[in-house]
Amino acid sequence: MRESILSRPSSGLRPLIHFTAPKGWINDPNGLIYYKGQYHLFYQHNPDSTEWASMHWGHAVSNDMLHWEDFPIALYPDSAYDKDEDGGCFSGSAIEKDGMLFLVYTGSVHKNGILYQTQNIAYSKDGVSFTKYEGNPVITKPESAADDFRDPKIFLHNGKYYLVIGGAIDGDGKIFIYSSDDIYNWEYNGILYSSDKKTATMIECPDFFPLDDKWVLVFSPMGNPERKKGLYIIGDMDFDTYTFSPEYTGEIDRGFDYYAPQSFLDENGNRTMIAWMNRWLWMPYGEDHGPTTGEGWRCALSLPRSVRLMNGQLEFSPITGLCNIFKRRNKLTAEIDRSNPLMLTREAAMRISVEFTEEEIPSAVLNIAITSKSSLLVDLLSRKAILITGGKSKGVIVAELANTQKHRLEIILDKTAYEIFIDDGYDVISVEIYEDYNDIELSVPYKKAVVNVTTEY
Ligand code: FRU
Repeated sequence: MRESILSRPSSGLRPLIHFTAPKGWINDPNGLIYYKGQYHLFYQHNPDSTEWASMHWGHAVSNDMLHWEDFPIALYPDSAYDKDEDGGCFSGSAIEKDGMLFLVYTGSVHKNGILYQTQNIAYSKDGVSFTKYEGNPVITKPESAADDFRDPKIFLHNGKYYLVIGGAIDGDGKIFIYSSDDIYNWEYNGILYSSDKKTATMIECPDFFPLDDKWVLVFSPMGNPERKKGLYIIGDMDFDTYTFSPEYTGEIDRGFDYYAPQSFLDENGNRTMIAWMNRWLWMPYGEDHGPTTGEGWRCALSLPRSVRLMNGQLEFSPITGLCNIFKRRNKLTAEIDRSNPLMLTREAAMRISVEFTEEEIPSAVLNIAITSKSSLLVDLLSRKAILITGGKSKGVIVAELANTQKHRLEIILDKTAYEIFIDDGYDVISVEIYEDYNDIELSVPYKKAVVNVTTEY
């Protein structure tokens, strides 16, 4: 088996190319930033156990967003506003100002049974050790807002700093917007986005960024009745009146395991996104976080993906640097029929690209068995790609094919982590499947079909 590209050995179920914490628990990516020539990744972390508790900010640094070097923990939950077993230094974001690296995060504590979530600042001159600002907290919740008030995402626009923060009022999800000239003193500018209970009863991890000539609002809804867990809204923004005018709403990723995405700009100015590749137990399909406790670590982050605006919708593709980490590439064209499936050797970490035109699949159905109990069914009549997961990870995920005659599926497999990009990221499915893997089998129910396959190991 090939060695992990991370700065730690890969054994057991630990992925080779998806980021995991050296030990303990990990959830949301935080503070993603390209700072002084390197990528910094922070993450929600409990170093002392494989269960969520006492959130710290773990820290890793990379030159390519794929090979990560572990850095010392950046934030410890050791202040009055963030010291709590059932709380800590919650999610937030990063920005560079005057050559310094600033982190903005939520301190979450309970006092006398009441939840206090406040926004706080830490800064660093070297990008390694961080000092909490003595004036913390810098923001407390608006009076009418629910106690859940968290996950500040900072950005600079026309010389002013802005924060979007998630929360709720009377059981409807809200995103609040604040502005500042100096990063320390914040003014409340109102509600940027209001959902109703059909979308979210509370909003976590908002993100707000310009893309081409539009603004994109991304958030993680709690309590979505359709089980959606990552939404985006494309629209126009008026910063004079703080009015966001939505035009199109879409889903970021259809899979069970793509939550709390955060975006940032890479060194070339491309919008790039990383998410937590797991699920909370409050989610309808959230039974557990996977069987890795015995190995001393739990949960992974997604691979970084590039975000683009295409025909008024978001599309995603793995960052181009991913090509460089695969050492071997095989290309083949195969004729398959009911009794002659195509078998591909499964390796711990690999990428498979399958290309075909609609004429090449006369049965209009292509089945890709990715484990012994899980299959991706491509149905050209309904224009859907349906992932049916079996075993312990049972579920059905439906994604859309693009309205084209030619299709391309890109499947990245990394131990238990699966990211499937459909039609060059027109739609995406990310899941953890805790099953032993077999070779991959491509089959059709009848008639001869032709598939063009590239495998990379
Ligand atoms: C989202 C989230 C955030 C919170 C963090 C706590 O996954 O619930 O809202 O800040 O995780 O770890």
